[in-house]
Amino acid sequence: MELTVVWYLRMSLVYFIAGTVIGFAILLWPGEAGYYISSHVHLNLLGFMSMMIYGVGYHILPKFSGRHIYSPMIMKIQFWLSNAGLTGMAISWPFVSRGNEGAAESILILTAAMSLLSVILFAFNILKTVKAVQM
Ligand code: HEM
Ligand code: HEM
Repeated sequence: MELTVVWYLRMSLVYFIAGTVIGFAILLWPGEAGYYISSHVHLNLLGFMSMMIYGVGYHILPKFSGRHIYSPMIMKIQFWLSNAGLTGMAISWPFVSRGNEGAAESILILTAAMSLLSVILFAFNILKTVKAVQM
């Protein structure tokens, strides 16, 4: 398995733990829930679920098509973008939810844009990779 793919899978599981720990903490301190739900949701859905799909997708979809991945470089750039993007979102979001409109809001918008760009890069790279196989 390619090293970057392994790191997608590793980071996915790190986010799974972080996301569910926050979910459990929300149960314990429901008064704080409103500040942390966005981080909980996105660590689980953009972190665990999407990152797992990036890793498994990059590993298996080229094989299904009998091809190599279109751009290993995009795969690596996307790894750093998606991780920096999600980490920034998960950390800055509670501050923004508490009404902090300064640096936290700028970081949230910047890192959300990085996450969005990483999604677009993934879609582009996979669309350029997959092709129908003659049955
Ligand atoms: C140990 C595991 C988990 C715990 C203890 C937990 C706990 C919670 C809690 C307390 C809330 C807030 C509910 C509320 O007050 O409205 C919540 C919301 C949410 N959780 Fe989790 N969660 C866990 C795992 C997950 C996972 C694995 C996912 C997704 C893959 C997930 C997705 C969501 C979503 C989407 C919401 C927002 C729901 C809404 O819009 O009201 N959670 N979770
Ligand atoms: C570029 C990536 C993403 C960005 C910038 C983004 C942004 C947002 C924003 C701004 C909200 C509203 C939060 C609020 O103020 O209540 C939200 C909510 C939500 N997002 Fe995302 N999102 C992204 C990706 C995703 C993905 C990939 C999923 C699922 C697979 C997802 C699932 C959800 C859910 C379930 C909610 C509602 C959470 C709640 O009940 O509070 N998001 N997202």
